[in-house]
Amino acid sequence: MPIHHHQDKPLIVPHAVDAAALTLRGVNFAYPDGHQALKNISLEIAQGEKVALVGPNGAGKSTLLLQLNGVFQGEGEIQVMGLPVLEKNLPLIRAYVGMVFQNPDDQLFSPTVFEDVAFGPLHMGLASAEVRARAAEALQQVGMEAYSERLSYHLSLGEKKRIAIATVLSMHPDILVFDEPTGGLDPRSRRSLIELLDAMEITMLVSTHDMRLVQELFPRMVIMDGGQIVADGSAQELLADQAFLHSHGLEQP
Ligand SMILES: Nc1ncnc2c1ncn2[C@@H]1O[C@H](COP(=O)(O)OP(=O)(O)OP(=O)(O)O)[C@@H](O)[C@H]1O
Ligand SMILES: [Mg+2]
Repeated sequence: MPIHHHQDKPLIVPHAVDAAALTLRGVNFAYPDGHQALKNISLEIAQGEKVALVGPNGAGKSTLLLQLNGVFQGEGEIQVMGLPVLEKNLPLIRAYVGMVFQNPDDQLFSPTVFEDVAFGPLHMGLASAEVRARAAEALQQVGMEAYSERLSYHLSLGEKKRIAIATVLSMHPDILVFDEPTGGLDPRSRRSLIELLDAMEITMLVSTHDMRLVQELFPRMVIMDGGQIVADGSAQELLADQAFLHSHGLEQP
């Protein structure tokens, strides 16, 4: 049973035992300008499942992911480890869900790389030695240990992306929600990220345009188009259906 330490008081979460990692039922969401970005989305992801979320630009992938930790809230039902995504549950939900945003500039706000990566563990109330150990480990996992004292703001896009990933890994989340994690990464960084994700036995929902990444890493694939889920099934089978992929602006790997 996962235990989250919050200011030295361990918080035990009974919901987590049998619940699905992520559940969405009949989720609709419109942006303030009236654009309907999610239409009747239903999706269930079991604990430990690795799921790719694909679809053309504007399909609604980022909008969907941002519902999962309450950045945006639409109509319908969303649960994380059995906990409804409601204001009162957000601290726990944000401890469960490690979210990497599409744009790393939305994620990095501390003066130094180290402070960005240490921020999550620090605010979980962990002791400072543990905070340092977690930050060092996460930086090593993304190959950025030499960047600890650099200024996050001045890094290249790919470097920022890797630091953004480290800010989430340092929190040891139960569920990884990544929005285009390989965007901007060079081939070697992309390869090491794939190996890292492959080795992690936790729940993942990853939005990507990288169909080779889907093929290598994800048994299950959800395809979105126009705010709707148009397919949800075996990645191998869906990737074999060239005509269907083309009809949604996608290509085979
Ligand atoms: N703040 C906003 N206000 C109004 N409409 C928005 C806003 N953000 C996104 N949208 C619209 O919502 C739709 C879904 O956008 P979203 O960013 O979720 O797409 P996406 O599938 O993540 O695309 P991409 O592959 O380009 O990242 C798009 O039509 C977009 O124009
Ligand atoms: Mg997006």
